[in-house]
Amino acid sequence: MADPGPSPTARAEISHGSVGAAGADPPRAGRPPIPKAELHVHIEGTLEAELALLLAGRNGISLPYQDAKDLRRAYEFSSLQSFLDLYYATMAVLCTEQDFADLASEYLERASAQGVRHAEIFFDPQAHAERGIGLARVIDGLWSVLGSSEQTHGISTALIMCFLRERGPAAAMASLEAALPFRDRIIAVGLDGAEVGHPPAAFSDVFDRARAEGFRCVAHAGEEGPPSYIWDSLDRLRVSRIDHGVRCVEDAALVARLRDEQTPLTVCPLSNLRLGVVTELARHPLPRMIEAGLAVTVNSDDPAYFGGYIDDNYGLLQAVLGMTDPQLRTMAEASFRAAFLADEARARHLDALAGWPDG
Ligand code: ADE
Ligand code: ZN
Repeated sequence: MADPGPSPTARAEISHGSVGAAGADPPRAGRPPIPKAELHVHIEGTLEAELALLLAGRNGISLPYQDAKDLRRAYEFSSLQSFLDLYYATMAVLCTEQDFADLASEYLERASAQGVRHAEIFFDPQAHAERGIGLARVIDGLWSVLGSSEQTHGISTALIMCFLRERGPAAAMASLEAALPFRDRIIAVGLDGAEVGHPPAAFSDVFDRARAEGFRCVAHAGEEGPPSYIWDSLDRLRVSRIDHGVRCVEDAALVARLRDEQTPLTVCPLSNLRLGVVTELARHPLPRMIEAGLAVTVNSDDPAYFGGYIDDNYGLLQAVLGMTDPQLRTMAEASFRAAFLADEARARHLDALAGWPDG
């Protein structure tokens, strides 16, 4: 397996310079990272530059970069689409079961150092299928590592297969049907990819079918898209969590609904910064969302590309937005409450959180 590379903080400095007024380590030295669940991470978005280049060499694929530093120089994004272009192009190095296993191993190493106790991990089967990489290879590779993650890393894991919204509902339905033989290793379906211009309502039949087949449902909405996409994800897709959802703050009635129903939102601050959803972290709507009583969780999205993993996001909330330990505890608690966990496991994780020392 590839060397895991520099620490996330060092990586942020290498690739992007300081990530804000307080881009240094969070002021929590000497304490273990807060125990948390990660509910919004794309496994393909954990592909570090070093591993991408190693796999390119292993599979005889040429990437137009001299080295990892050169590849990271390309991580300057102006929008979700500008990121997706690079994300899809770079994941072309993932070819064999072993590649997916190595990807999952590196994620678990980093997640464990960042205090993750449970992870629900997105993957994009359609992006692999179009390159001739079938679902069996992807899932067998990921599961060869994730299937024993609790024993190896103390992290329970589950897979969420996403539909790429820009490919439309017919392709999504075909992808769902192809996944039915693997249902024992997939807990939920999600909706990701280019949001604007691809409203969720078109996928209502796909989500109805997924629910009937026993999958939980989540969807990216309100990242770049308008509040109406969040309404429709709730009403037409009947999702149990909203991924991102930050644009809900533009619609008071929507905020009231999300608060009343305590719909979990998987917010990804560094992602929002890197993709231009917010111009600076100091202006992120997360404090307003918490103030409004929303069930906010903090997550990493595509950490290899955005300069930090999940605890780096937590740390930046403290360092840049001045969030307090009790607020971090509330968000970590929300992550365990929002997870697709059995009651006994949830209670165990909440106990571990209660035992996290005060700073
Ligand atoms: N796929 C990977 N990251 C994504 C994001 N932030 N939004 C939508 N689709 C994605
Ligand atoms: Zn995402």
